[in-house]
Amino acid sequence: MLFPSLYYLHMEGFLAPGQRIIGSSRSPHTDEAFRAKMRGWVQDRVGDYFDEKTFATFAERVSYVSVDAKDHNDFLTLREALHDGKDEAVFYLSTSPDIFSSLTANLKEAGLTDAPNRIVVEKPIGHDLKSCMEINNALAEAFSEDRTFRIDHYLGKETVQNLIALRFGNTIFEPLWSAVSIDSVQITISETVGAEGRGGYYDAYGAIRDMVQNHLLQLLCLVAMEPPASLSADAVRNEKVKVLRSLAPITAANINEKTIRGQYSEGFDETGGRAASYLNDVEAATSDTESYTAIAAEVQNWRWAGVPFYLQTGKRMSERKTEIVISFRCLPHSIFQGPASPNELIIVLQPKEEITLQIMNKRPGLTEGGMPLQELGLNLSLSDHLSGKAARRRIAYEQLILDALNNNPSLFVQRDEQEAARRWIDGSVEAWIQHYVAPKPYRAGANGPSAKHTLTERNKHSWHE
Ligand code: BG6
Repeated sequence: MLFPSLYYLHMEGFLAPGQRIIGSSRSPHTDEAFRAKMRGWVQDRVGDYFDEKTFATFAERVSYVSVDAKDHNDFLTLREALHDGKDEAVFYLSTSPDIFSSLTANLKEAGLTDAPNRIVVEKPIGHDLKSCMEINNALAEAFSEDRTFRIDHYLGKETVQNLIALRFGNTIFEPLWSAVSIDSVQITISETVGAEGRGGYYDAYGAIRDMVQNHLLQLLCLVAMEPPASLSADAVRNEKVKVLRSLAPITAANINEKTIRGQYSEGFDETGGRAASYLNDVEAATSDTESYTAIAAEVQNWRWAGVPFYLQTGKRMSERKTEIVISFRCLPHSIFQGPASPNELIIVLQPKEEITLQIMNKRPGLTEGGMPLQELGLNLSLSDHLSGKAARRRIAYEQLILDALNNNPSLFVQRDEQEAARRWIDGSVEAWIQHYVAPKPYRAGANGPSAKHTLTERNKHSWHE
């Protein structure tokens, strides 16, 4: 994702003249050999946007320095490549977090960590709160918090940012945006891919740490947060932290009511072909890791008290979809024939970008007494309104890399936000352990374990499917 994103930034003129990109890993490569590898990554990803001339000028920016995280001398070579450390540098660590601390300590020793240099880190930042804090402490030894950019790629997605526009760029939603009018919120990230190919990582983390503690909680924050005073990084991120700190704890006493875990067994993929089981995909004889989880969360504050936020995510589900459903309260008294469904605001973020407001209408036709209703959607398909450059589906990293280059941290996760999310997630994981909750099987290609319905039915709700 990284080089294709940089290619697009170059193609659209966002990289300054003379701005260089240095690739690094342990393997030795010449600049030419690295550019040839990188060409393949870019071509595979950008497809029809690949243009020989554009790539040639892009490749001129790219060189390579082999760096072993533990070898101090390699950092001196890197320093030389940065004109004896005089160039302003953004370091981007897309490595295992085990080596973050050696990398940052060595960067510091080589004199490369002073302002304005900054660092971008990819998840996972630790396994739990304790290891997350250790890594954050190590990062803080070398880079101040305002120069530490933690990536959650969901925040780079156009439609995720659009949530802020929808809520705070329109006046019509705000008066309705609370427990007074809203009955429940559902946030779903379902994927058709399995854990194959990254079993070692995935089996140690599971759905709750891989998807909930970052992407799902970020979406929850954007739905639940108070209007920030401005779009500045601090204003937005401080409102998000308040939401995370208001989440009702999940404990051994309520774990069975509030969470469901699942693990896929053999079944079918989205093309109808056979799909292997989770155990097969992660190459383990046994495993208690969940590939699906659903959580009934509650934001305990004045705006949201009593409104369940149902979160669910799973691998090898029937379809790839990221969706937020805001369900409004039922009519206090119906004067119509038959049931009137409550209004719903459905925001689909992936695979297509769509906003639909479900509203009740009169069913057309003659009637003899009474007025039957039907539910219809006011629909806004965002892709129908895009043209020219804007019509290209962007890689989420493009905006994030551009922001890191421009020293704008708004779309990055700050330390207290990340640690608050971890604290809440650790509570659930500890409760799962204390109250041993094994994942329930679901067939690959199904929508998670059937037990997930108990989570919503308990409150007389149902999953939006
Ligand atoms: C990553 C997770 O952060 O997000 C993956 O580690 C997951 O397991 C991916 O597949 C989903 O991202 P997207 O952009 O495809 O929804």
